[in-house]
Order: sequence, then structure tokens, then C-alpha cells
Amino acid sequence: MTSTGFVSIVGAGPGDPDLLTRKAVRRLRRADLVLYDALVDPRVIAIARRASRFYVGKRAGRHALTQDAIHALLVRAARRGLLVVRLKGGDPFVFGRGGEEALALTAAGIPFEVVPGITSAVAAPARAGIPVTHRGVSSAFLVVSGHDLSAFEAAVNGTQPDAVTLVVLMGMANRARLAASLIERGWPASTPAAVITGAWTPEEHVARCTLVELSLASDGAPDAPGTLVFGEVAALACAAVAATYESRERASAR
Ligand SMILES: C[S@@+](CC[C@H](N)C(=O)[O-])C[C@H]1O[C@@H](n2cnc3c(N)ncnc32)[C@H](O)[C@@H]1O
Repeated sequence: MTSTGFVSIVGAGPGDPDLLTRKAVRRLRRADLVLYDALVDPRVIAIARRASRFYVGKRAGRHALTQDAIHALLVRAARRGLLVVRLKGGDPFVFGRGGEEALALTAAGIPFEVVPGITSAVAAPARAGIPVTHRGVSSAFLVVSGHDLSAFEAAVNGTQPDAVTLVVLMGMANRARLAASLIERGWPASTPAAVITGAWTPEEHVARCTLVELSLASDGAPDAPGTLVFGEVAALACAAVAATYESRERASAR
């Protein structure tokens, strides 16, 4: 094949395939090749029935391919005329390195598009009934990586728990240190916190506590990916409607 193919950098959302955009589903159905990351739900990958599907992800330091090798693979596949889906958890431009891939495709002259996905930064708290902003409680939210403590501290310096909600991705392994660091920066020890793991997957779990309780827990990576929420909104629980609807769906399926 000599014609140039096309690359769709697609957000897979947090897990549940019902949270995919219609465009994402269409791209998956017609793809020749799907290159997917860690944390993409197997039910989403399965939608690409006619495609060859390869894991190219990075999880907890285990790299299947380097970023440069992924760029080269995308360019090579498109030049062979394939319809390629580059599938990433959540949204491709939120801690997903989608920007680097878009720039590499631009530099190589490959036509591509970005299909946004629902980021876990919003979807994981929502699953726990936590609105990231709430009138009279929090008028802003800051999405920050918890992977590197010094980068986290630079981002949160000067923030106040009664003004901003902190949503921390990639912070599970450092959760006690992150909580302790906020207390050192003047956040009250009693500030509500929530730890949401595996949101919108069969493994989902929600734990609520305070900053000081979390700071006293032990660090370490759990099996499921997790999102941390720090701030007054973490004490809210607005999930009753969703829970009722899902139990109705289950009952009518029986
Ligand atoms: C490399 S970042 C990618 C984020 C992704 N692009 C997004 O928009 O959701 C991976 C982090 O997202 C969060 N995450 C991904 N899936 C999740 C889920 N189902 N439940 C809770 N957090 C999740 C975790 O903090 C995980 O460490």
C-alpha cells in the first residue's frame, strides 16, 4: 500500500465502555491497527474487532516500548496506509503523552485527529458522588500529578482547601507523603480526602478519610489505578441517583 493512512489519538475514558464517545466507537470499529496503553479497559479494546491490537503501554516502570519507538510505529503504520487508533485511558491530553505523539505525527506529515475522552480526573470523583466544583464549597479544581513530590509541591504551593479542590493522578504510591506535604503547607489536618481506585471498572473502590489519616497510612502502589481528591468537596456524596439507575438496569436485565 502506498497511500497515507490516518491516525486517531483516542481517549478511552476511565473504564466502562458506555463512557466512550460515539466518535471513539466509530474509530475503533473501522481501525486496522490499535496501539493501546495500560489502563485501557479490555471491554473497550474488544470493540476493535477487525483490528490488529498491540499493547505499547507503560505501567509502574514497565515499558513495553519507548516513546520514540511508539512514534516511529505510528508513522510507519500510517505510511503503509493503515487506519490506526492510538488508544489511551481517560483523555489523551491529560497526562497521556498525547501531545508528544501529535507533535511527532505533525513533524512526519501524517494526517491525524484527537478524539477526547472522559478524564478520570473528573469521572473518578463523579463515581464517588464527588463534584469537583460545588457552589459555595469550591470554585476551582487543580489536576496535578502525584508521581514526583517536588513537582506536586510546586503546583500546590499557595492553594487553600476552601478555595480549590485538588485532584491527584498518579499519586497512589505517594499518597501518605502527598497528604503530609499539604498539612505542612497549611492545609488543616481535618480536610476531607477521598481515594477512588478502579473507578468505572469491576474493581472500583472508594475510601474517604481526612488528610491526617491519609498521611499516617503507608505508601505503596495498589493493584488498581487510583485518583485522590483533597478538599471540602471530598466530604460530599451525590451518588444516590446514579446508584438507583444502575440497580434498576440490573433488575430489568434479570
Ligand atoms: C498516566 S495517567 C493517565 C490519565 C488519563 N489520561 C486520564 O485522563 O484519565 C494514569 C492515572 O489516571 C488515574 N486513573 C486512570 N484510570 C483510573 C480509574 N479507573 N480510576 C481511578 N483513577 C484512574 C490514576 O491516577 C492513574 O495513575
